[in-house]
Amino acid sequence: MEKPKPVQTRLTEMFKMDYPIIGAPMFLVSNKDMVIASCEAGGMGTFPAHNFRPIENYRKVIQDIKSQTQGPFGINIIVQKSNPSQEKQLEIAIEEEVPLLITSLGSPKSVIEKTRGTKTKVFCDVVGLTHAKKVEDLGADGLVIVGSGAGGHGGETSLFALIPYLKKHVSLPLVAAGCMNDGKSLAAALALGADGIYMGTRIIASKEAEVLDDYKKAIVDAGPEDIVNTDRVDGFPGNFIKTKNLEKMLKPNLVDNVLSQNKRVKRAVSMLRAGRALFGPQGQKLSYKNTFSAGHGVGNIEEVLSIREIFFQTVVEYRQILQNLPN
Ligand SMILES: Cc1cc2nc3c(=O)[nH]c(=O)nc-3n(C[C@H](O)[C@H](O)[C@H](O)COP(=O)(O)O)c2cc1C
Repeated sequence: MEKPKPVQTRLTEMFKMDYPIIGAPMFLVSNKDMVIASCEAGGMGTFPAHNFRPIENYRKVIQDIKSQTQGPFGINIIVQKSNPSQEKQLEIAIEEEVPLLITSLGSPKSVIEKTRGTKTKVFCDVVGLTHAKKVEDLGADGLVIVGSGAGGHGGETSLFALIPYLKKHVSLPLVAAGCMNDGKSLAAALALGADGIYMGTRIIASKEAEVLDDYKKAIVDAGPEDIVNTDRVDGFPGNFIKTKNLEKMLKPNLVDNVLSQNKRVKRAVSMLRAGRALFGPQGQKLSYKNTFSAGHGVGNIEEVLSIREIFFQTVVEYRQILQNLPN
């Protein structure tokens, strides 16, 4: 497929990229090839810092990416106590002049302060106006708006409501996250006021993703009715494909019955589960390895493609949509 013409927005201007499409950071999924392919396809690739441990591997992957693509890339840093390596992850990212850091799950204050005056920009995950205004005041460079129905830990509000609402109250560039799979969703997100989209679930069903074939097949086969929201995997409500394995896990057990009686204990156990799932030893019983996280957009994903094909088809379809809208 021929390379489509660039689509310009505030996001593409900020990072000198051709298309306002970011391959989203995904725990245990984002790998070096996905990041490089996203950059080489005219968008941006990202990965969660916690995918590369110990810290030497993290620095090595940054250097490898820099040596294999000119395109801008980003790293997600979890800015919450459960991440013991956040200081080091930040320090290395600044030293290596990583173009974008995306903060999630906590306060981005220290990340914003330490990157000030460097080549690294900071976007923050937000799910509503209060946090969006707070991070704008702290000096963030942009927002990733995580809507309901997104893969991983989605927000609670529909992007149809959230994008125009935040656009009205915040002046930062906005990236829409949740069910952004194709030209239709790119057109909708830009029409609502976003400056770009985050593609998560769509690029799990890509040739570059090194997940189980069963995971890719489950995404291709599933519809929105097959997605369940549960906090049983890692302590926070997240969206997962209803596989046999997940159904087994969802059967109520004694611990959950006790937890449901007491909110504070429930919160403490949730934090513990999150810390173990993200930063604990690999290969434990409940993990993203044996459960398949995916967003409500699965119904619009029909085949496994390369990331280049996904991005190019998205841009071609976006242009067709603009031409064919009812007048
Ligand atoms: C398997 C999986 C793992 C994820 N891990 C992370 C993560 O480590 N950090 C993060 O900021 N977001 C994470 N997310 C959320 C994505 O970055 C993105 O917001 C989301 O996938 C967008 O929704 P979509 O899947 O409908 O495209 C994850 C999503 C999935 C599906």
